[in-house]
Amino acid sequence: MTDLGPVPWPPAPIRTERLVLRAAEARDRAGFVELYASQEVHTYLGGARPREELAREMPAVPGQWPGSFVVALDGVMTGQVLLRRATEHSRPAAVGKVDLGYLFLPRVWGHGYAAEACGAALDWLGGVLPDEPVVLATQTANTRSLRLAAKLGFTEVERFRAWEAEQWLGLRPAASA
Ligand SMILES: CC(C)(COP(=O)(O)OP(=O)(O)OC[C@H]1O[C@@H](n2cnc3c(N)ncnc32)[C@H](O)[C@@H]1OP(=O)(O)O)[C@@H](O)C(=O)NCCC(=O)NCCS
Repeated sequence: MTDLGPVPWPPAPIRTERLVLRAAEARDRAGFVELYASQEVHTYLGGARPREELAREMPAVPGQWPGSFVVALDGVMTGQVLLRRATEHSRPAAVGKVDLGYLFLPRVWGHGYAAEACGAALDWLGGVLPDEPVVLATQTANTRSLRLAAKLGFTEVERFRAWEAEQWLGLRPAASA
């Protein structure tokens, strides 16, 4: 995965009804450590990293690349939305396409925040790269993620087996389509 390429970055903070999406800042570091150390967040993502290792190795401003949005609720980081170029995806249908990822702290699940944030990030993408469809891969066991993908307008391309689990590959047409 690499970044999106020549898109204007960072964008002005994107405000939704309840959230702000913005580029990462130094004050988000603790939130990143919490997010990447959470076993619950990584249940379907291959396991979390040890908190001490993250605290030691994470850069002063983590996730600083075009397409990496911090999602802030009342000013505090509660999640990350990622739009990356899937240069080396294992599925031919996804190679070279923009790939959506999302991780939110469990305490904010179940309030529609992920849908609100991902919808705003996809709107932003539709503005800067209107001709790009978006792909999304998630384990079929990750029912919350599958529900979110459907809500965001992704439809199934295929199911496949990887990392000892069944995976779902979805596609969302380009904004201009
Ligand atoms: C995947 C993930 C982002 C989904 O989070 P989520 O909070 O369930 O997703 P949504 O924002 O769509 O919220 C949906 C729920 O909010 C509820 N909700 C409550 N208030 C709401 C409101 N005001 N507006 C919309 N929905 C609302 C919905 O009814 C829905 O409930 P349900 O799941 O019981 O049907 C989250 O589980 C996560 O971070 N998982 C770990 C990371 C991961 O696995 N990522 C996937 C691979 S990229």
